[in-house]
Amino acid sequence: MTNYWYQEAVFYELYIRAFCDGDGDGHGDFRGAITKLDYIKSLGVDCIWILPMYPSPLKDDGYDIAGYTDIHPDYGSLEEFKVFLDAAHERGLRVVTDLVMNHTSDQHPWFQEARRDPHSPYHQYYVWSETGEEYADARIIFLDFEESNWTYDEVAGKYFWHRFYSSQPDLNYDNPAVHDEMIRIMRFWLDLGVDGFRADAVPYLYEREDTNCENLPETHLFLKKVRQIMDKEYPGRVLIAEANQWPLDVVDYFGDGDEFHLCFHFPVMPRLYMALKQGDKRPILDILARTPEIPPGTQWLTFLRNHDELTLEMVTPEERHWMWDQYAPEPRMRINMGIRRRLAPLLDNNRGRWLLLNALLLSLPGSPIIYYGDEIGMGDNIWLPDRHGCRTPMQWSAGKNGGFSTADTTYLPVNDDDGYGYQVVNVANQENERDSYLWVTRFLLQSRKQQPALQRGVMEILPIDNPAVLAYWRVHEDDRVLCLYNLSKQQQSISLDLRSYHGDSLVDLLFQGENIILSEWPTVKIMAPLASHWLHLEKT
Ligand code: GLC
Repeated sequence: MTNYWYQEAVFYELYIRAFCDGDGDGHGDFRGAITKLDYIKSLGVDCIWILPMYPSPLKDDGYDIAGYTDIHPDYGSLEEFKVFLDAAHERGLRVVTDLVMNHTSDQHPWFQEARRDPHSPYHQYYVWSETGEEYADARIIFLDFEESNWTYDEVAGKYFWHRFYSSQPDLNYDNPAVHDEMIRIMRFWLDLGVDGFRADAVPYLYEREDTNCENLPETHLFLKKVRQIMDKEYPGRVLIAEANQWPLDVVDYFGDGDEFHLCFHFPVMPRLYMALKQGDKRPILDILARTPEIPPGTQWLTFLRNHDELTLEMVTPEERHWMWDQYAPEPRMRINMGIRRRLAPLLDNNRGRWLLLNALLLSLPGSPIIYYGDEIGMGDNIWLPDRHGCRTPMQWSAGKNGGFSTADTTYLPVNDDDGYGYQVVNVANQENERDSYLWVTRFLLQSRKQQPALQRGVMEILPIDNPAVLAYWRVHEDDRVLCLYNLSKQQQSISLDLRSYHGDSLVDLLFQGENIILSEWPTVKIMAPLASHWLHLEKT
């Protein structure tokens, strides 16, 4: 394994509470997750990203950390975490954990001490104000829940700063002691053997008057310091930035290859859905054109869905309303600036669309992420509050609680609606059907893994007049794969100028058997509605 493993890895986003309950208390835990590692491995993924697993009052599902160097008792113990980590490593799976740097829970002992005693060193761990009027240019992120980034604390008699819920006070990065704490925490987990961190909400570490308090130079300086330590003491481990920003701002988080190894590509995600609904590739091409080159040794992380709402922060207001109308017709499907639905329901459980978006995800430049449950087309429950509807228990079988838990009540109800309930949508059923979403996922991942071009090739977009068809090569040294997608519901015919490959052939990796010998010009291809093709160029 090289140190650049992350540039071609496929990630699996795992919510421990939702995956498998090993002790029958209705909450998923590490003991349960260990028993499912073979399943995760069987998908063909390389790295697991686990959502925060630390002690927490769970007002933001663990993104409100009350103790950074332990495990939430519902999920098990530190010892069990280690067993999980070792078991993952034995199977060749890497594990990165979520690290919330920007804020803690208000239940964290630091904050408890800070609010009680203004002279305590912990008071300076947080950002306080007498008036709550500073930094007025910073936007509110949890728009549906918070009115201000300042909340008055009765105990302290002052306002404290928070970019997310008011139960998540922001740490004060102007205090070097906070840097030291965060670095100590990182070393703790890296010493245990984790393969890196998904650093949560990194754009917001610092505040400065007359700015929007995002992406500040001070923030980048701190992050570069973290990277230096990682490189020196833990080479081969990775840092992932959650920076929901426009491409021009995100690329700063790669630095000159001296900041994050990986950054999520937030702006491309909603445009995949837009392009599909419009039957028009232009939203995708536009955002790719606006995406700068990234430094050697770095990589994008791409995804279709995750544990949050399908965020529409990185689109125009008109596009946002269009997306809401198209994909979230009921008000309950909307939250903050996004859509709280899972992949399969967003696509009306249409196999062609599901295959197309997944094939696209796996063939665009970047390391793809699969959100647990989407590989079997799990549904959502829009009647649950916040983003919980996309975080329901994994559906393993048609047995009690979908095979997730033996308890009488589970942390959230297992989905049992008509179309997506565990009785119908579950792993056991899909193991038995070779054309199920599950097997298609495995097939796509396996096919990708065999093609260096799909994993790390450069992208060459083909200029095709037909707006419904997206066509591009992925090229790595001598290896070439032509990716073709018909985004529309109508059959399309396209002409490709492939004269330079005269005599060679294109072998379809997705629909074996289809083999185009490149003799004529132009090469005409008829594409079925919503067709996806990965055509591997084979020399004769
Ligand atoms: C990130 C997480 C989200 C969380 C927020 C605050 O955006 O993905 O789930 O609520 O940070 O920690």
